[in-house]
Amino acid sequence: MNILLMGFGIVGQSFIELLLQKQSEGFAIPRIVGVSTLRRGSLYHATGLDLAELRRAILTGHLDAYPEEAGLKRDLNGMALIEVAQAQVFIESTYTNLRDGQPAIDYCRAALERGMHLITANKGPIALAYPALRTLAEQKNRYLGFEATVMSGTPAIEIGLNTFRGAHITAIRGIFNGTTNYILTQMESGLSYTEALRAAQELGYAEADPTADVEGWDTLSKVLILANTLMGGNLTVADVARRGISHITGQDVDEERANNRRWKLLGSIERAEDGQLIARVEPQRLSLEDPLAMVSGITNAISYSTDLLGDVTLIGAGAGGMATAFALWADYLRIPRP
Ligand code: HSE
Repeated sequence: MNILLMGFGIVGQSFIELLLQKQSEGFAIPRIVGVSTLRRGSLYHATGLDLAELRRAILTGHLDAYPEEAGLKRDLNGMALIEVAQAQVFIESTYTNLRDGQPAIDYCRAALERGMHLITANKGPIALAYPALRTLAEQKNRYLGFEATVMSGTPAIEIGLNTFRGAHITAIRGIFNGTTNYILTQMESGLSYTEALRAAQELGYAEADPTADVEGWDTLSKVLILANTLMGGNLTVADVARRGISHITGQDVDEERANNRRWKLLGSIERAEDGQLIARVEPQRLSLEDPLAMVSGITNAISYSTDLLGDVTLIGAGAGGMATAFALWADYLRIPRP
């Protein structure tokens, strides 16, 4: 299948790395026919782009550095590219915008309208527009993959959607943001909040604007995704109570440690007796027996409560280029083949 890749940051570049690795392992890999970025150019070639040249070009800072060849188009913006591309799969990996989800939501709609399968690493479209995108994908009989949006390649979505089929998920709680968990863990070792945040940024885990991490917005986007895709919700940003970790001091951390407890920024969803979902993001003091208390550093975790199986906890990567690229690859492999 031919792929059109929207956005070419860490995730998109890691996906190219992953394809090159799979090719070297002997797999037949899909063609990347188009790549589009907001400020670093775009490329389209109907018979496929050269992945090694693509990697070389983006490392110079602009796709203009890709070598000239007959049939290559360089001047198409995102929407124009979606309109002309001969591609069966659209991968959306542009930045997450939780205000209105744009331009990613329009890209996703246009790609589905043109009959492409949709795989997104971008949280915005799923957090804000899942019901509409799901309906459109079903009308067009196309696959909608969003494993990458929660816990990167750790299969939080696959397990929730498919492995628990036949049971009800009654509640979900988890650590869905690596940056804040890393900060809280480092503060337990004596670093100040500011030092710990700087270290997380240097490691490349933090969002472009770290407010999204420390004020709980990133966790909130994942709570919306989980509530609306796995628990039948139709929640919006305003429905989720949110508090981040920026007010937590070294003294707060020390006090809890003395009481055998740890601060964790949790996202949680539970079903009230009337069937409504109650969702929140807030720092909580966990006793050391809680499986989520043991999850340290950049690692994420999700605990599902189910009616037939009790509680199940999954711990794993929550961010990182290759871990997220793996989610895209796993979704690609899940597209039903004729
Ligand atoms: N900034 C996010 C984190 C990346 O720290 O977990 C994954 O959404």
